Amino acid sequence: MNYRHAFHAGNFADCVKHAILLDLLAHLQKKAKPLFLIDTHAGPGFTDLAAEAPNRTGEYRDGILRLLEDPPAALADYVALVQQLGLYPGSPALLRARLRDADRMAVCERHPEDFATLRRRFARDRQVAVHHRDGYEALGALLPPPERRALVLIDPPYEMPDEFTQVAAGIARGIARLRDAVIAAWYPIKHMPPVRAFHAALQAAAISDIVVAEFHLRDPRDPARLNGCGLVIVNPPFGHDTTLPPILDALLARLGNREPGEAARLFRLADE
Ligand SMILES: C[S@@+](CC[C@H](N)C(=O)[O-])C[C@H]1O[C@@H](n2cnc3c(N)ncnc32)[C@H](O)[C@@H]1O
Repeated sequence: MNYRHAFHAGNFADCVKHAILLDLLAHLQKKAKPLFLIDTHAGPGFTDLAAEAPNRTGEYRDGILRLLEDPPAALADYVALVQQLGLYPGSPALLRARLRDADRMAVCERHPEDFATLRRRFARDRQVAVHHRDGYEALGALLPPPERRALVLIDPPYEMPDEFTQVAAGIARGIARLRDAVIAAWYPIKHMPPVRAFHAALQAAAISDIVVAEFHLRDPRDPARLNGCGLVIVNPPFGHDTTLPPILDALLARLGNREPGEAARLFRLADE
């Protein structure tokens, strides 16, 4: 396990993922019924952007720093939460901040150091369970929850050549355990063939009601470069089609570099 999220915290891909994730959660929380959240690949939960690792890449400068300068209205909620929590909160910290009293969350992390960081962070938190376990395996074990309502983030590092296949299988497993679970799975876009194969695998698995939010910094041609990212969203909550397009537009306006092929779009992969 070589991947450490600290090198990438607050980069454009984190901003895309976290802004969308918070919007999905806000829609789900319009209903009073308690929610169960699972973060299958949680990371450390917080990265100090003054530390060495994020400054070795400097990726956050073209990510969250650009949004903080002049936050667009569609991103105001996300940026305000980041400012409140400090630079830079990971998905466990962002989601925890939004839990209501009756909501619960489980976070899974396999790296021993990041797991230890998470365990310390949530040591006295009765609403958060921290698991040192495989996130895909946890999907089968933790679903369905007694609440019967769940939001799942699947956000692996894509270190393994079969990670897209594992994500597609993880989504299918999650949906088999809880038909109505809202599952958001992040993926990198370097070049399109693996992305197309991933989308085709989800369609072949006959999972219904899937939308995709994609963010391209440039034409996805160079397989050695992170040219964009996407989120597959299964069972997207009512209202997402109104709120996500302006969020994607605002992200592109601030994080894009006017390179050929830059684009952000929401499209449907499988019918309801
Ligand atoms: C992209 S990072 C997560 C970032 C985090 N979700 C966020 O948005 O702030 C992926 C994390 O997954 C962890 N990981 C890798 N394989 C795993 C597995 N099979 N189960 C759980 N965690 C895993 C890595 O150690 C890494 O911290």
